[in-house]
Amino acid sequence: MLFSCQPEEVPEQIMDINSPDGRIHLEFKLDEAGVPYYYVEFDTMRIIDSSSLGFEFRNMPPLREGLTVRDMERQSVSESWEAVWGENREVLNEYNELRVELEERETPNRIFELYFRAYDDGVAFRYVFPLQDNMTEAVIMDEHTEFNLTGDHTVWWIPGDWDIYEHLYNETRFSEIDAIAKRDDPNLISTTIPENAVNTPATMRTETGLHLSFHEAALYDYSGMTLRISTDSLKMTSELVGSADGAKVKTATPWRSPWRTVQIAEAAGDLIESNLIVNLNEPNKLENTDWIEPMKYAGIWWEMHLEKSTWGMKGGRHGATTANAKRYIDFCAENNIRGLLIEGWYTGWEVWTEPEERIDAFDFVTPYPDYDLREVVRYADEQGVDIIMHHETSAVIPRYEEQMDTAYALMEELGIQAVKTGYVGSVIPEGEYQHGQYMVNHYQRVIEHAAEHQVMVDAHEPIKATGKRRTWPNMMTREGLRGQEFNAWSAEGGNPVDHLPVVAFTRMLAGPIDYTPGVFNLKMNPYQPDNQVRHTLANELALYVVIYSPLQMVADLPEHYKGQPAMQFVRDVAVDWDESHVLNGEVGQYLTIVRKERGADNWFLGSITDETPRQFDIPLDFLPEGKTYQAAFYYDAPDAHWDSNPTAIRITTQEVTRDSTLQLNLVSGGGAAVSLMGME
Ligand code: NOJ
Ligand code: CA
Repeated sequence: MLFSCQPEEVPEQIMDINSPDGRIHLEFKLDEAGVPYYYVEFDTMRIIDSSSLGFEFRNMPPLREGLTVRDMERQSVSESWEAVWGENREVLNEYNELRVELEERETPNRIFELYFRAYDDGVAFRYVFPLQDNMTEAVIMDEHTEFNLTGDHTVWWIPGDWDIYEHLYNETRFSEIDAIAKRDDPNLISTTIPENAVNTPATMRTETGLHLSFHEAALYDYSGMTLRISTDSLKMTSELVGSADGAKVKTATPWRSPWRTVQIAEAAGDLIESNLIVNLNEPNKLENTDWIEPMKYAGIWWEMHLEKSTWGMKGGRHGATTANAKRYIDFCAENNIRGLLIEGWYTGWEVWTEPEERIDAFDFVTPYPDYDLREVVRYADEQGVDIIMHHETSAVIPRYEEQMDTAYALMEELGIQAVKTGYVGSVIPEGEYQHGQYMVNHYQRVIEHAAEHQVMVDAHEPIKATGKRRTWPNMMTREGLRGQEFNAWSAEGGNPVDHLPVVAFTRMLAGPIDYTPGVFNLKMNPYQPDNQVRHTLANELALYVVIYSPLQMVADLPEHYKGQPAMQFVRDVAVDWDESHVLNGEVGQYLTIVRKERGADNWFLGSITDETPRQFDIPLDFLPEGKTYQAAFYYDAPDAHWDSNPTAIRITTQEVTRDSTLQLNLVSGGGAAVSLMGME
């Protein structure tokens, strides 16, 4: 028998894994210098070429070479779990995993592990540093995770901004990515784009039509990752969001990085159906979830963005008055809208964006004199409407953290179970960035604090979604993109016709989006006659299905829904789903999704297109056998057009079965929305 003289080394072994369906292959290697590498293949075609891994630290040597393999292990997992709410009730979690334990050959002989997973819908890996004598505290100055691409792909990207995700998407070849040119966007308050990097999810299409999307999952106690672009070498390298003193992450063993993820799909729509990001998160930690309920909500909100009214009282056009709140509550009760967001009810809005005064502008508990908080809550209760709290922090973090106890205690006392948070402005403490470790930890503290008070969170100006909703199902939805509000603010800053057909395949892969759909007065007369929403009314309805959010807004003013037959779709549409299917789609062009209402035999279909008119035949073969459905079709009228005739809609009804086929005719910037209500 032969024994190796170095039993801890396993140099000859092939360290690889395949996806359960065998199509994705990932291999890990150490080269002669002990540099760790991985590569990825799809159907034997290289899609990520040899890419190295490693770290640089402060006051410690880097960990990028001189490594040896101490141990390796494989495991296979196949399970399914039930989502508290979501696009699907049952989620299949099936993967093969490779764990490689590495050690420095020389002192200080630090140890770490790499976990690689191959799923049918992509790959993921993370670094895990166990507790060890030779490495206790660690200040990460750089994470060197590479993604070496094998072609000059078409990329849909926003710049790697450390402060804001509200940029418009760009579509370019990889070699043409220029994030620096996106600095100082006149429509954004401030940008921090230190390098030519992109934010995640970044979605790509290869020459052969394969789709890839790069992101991260389970972002805890770490900085958000942007991807630095090397246009010449077609390489991306992790670039973590920093802080004032140059450190990227401050940590101590044991610690682990978020998962670095690559979603891989032949059809673009499969990216949307992928559960990779949630699967990489841990199961639900909340024992009692009875209080967590997806809902539609209206808001004393759009009227401020249209400048019909104001957040503050100065000027005599205050939006959040008791009388106006009651008007909205009546509107909600009449239209099957469970929630009502009220912004601008607490004092401080006169100074909230002033550089000095914003520091202590808000306390989140003191109402303006024309707003009777308790009376509003009482009246809402009587009408079966839930008030949604608003906390605009102005990004003054220490102040908000101090106020949280009283602010959430007030909510608990009043029985308020949802909050919309906001973080407008540059972060205080100065030198911290919205997407750095400090803020990642702040956003997590809010989730946990809210959970203790049985409060659901909708965060605006948030950290990106990384699938935490599985573990913390009170983290419902977030903005984190250029939302509907930009349409109200200006013509040039408004969202282009193809915005949402891009968003659905990029930002939406991260998680739910509070886009705030439901604007019926698309041209915004008489408030902002120069501004507009750039798609048709049928397209706007379709967003309730296409752009997923468990808190889904009905954004427009109550008076704009009066006498509108299209409002029936908004009343009917569900917000929580048993199953979801992408029926067709191409990034930036069009998308059709159908979803089944959770716990009810009703289906809703949404279809949207960019400037190109499109026709689709949609067989209803997703419906069960032997059942008949009452269908209502909300289609673009033949002469509708996103600019010249956006509100022209044709509404018809008909009984259908799974043998029926719909013919959708989407005009330029158009859409289609269909409700299929099960009949006994
Ligand atoms: C920006 C948010 O996106 C918006 O929804 C909110 O109304 C304002 N901040 C004020 O908090
Ligand atoms: Ca915003």
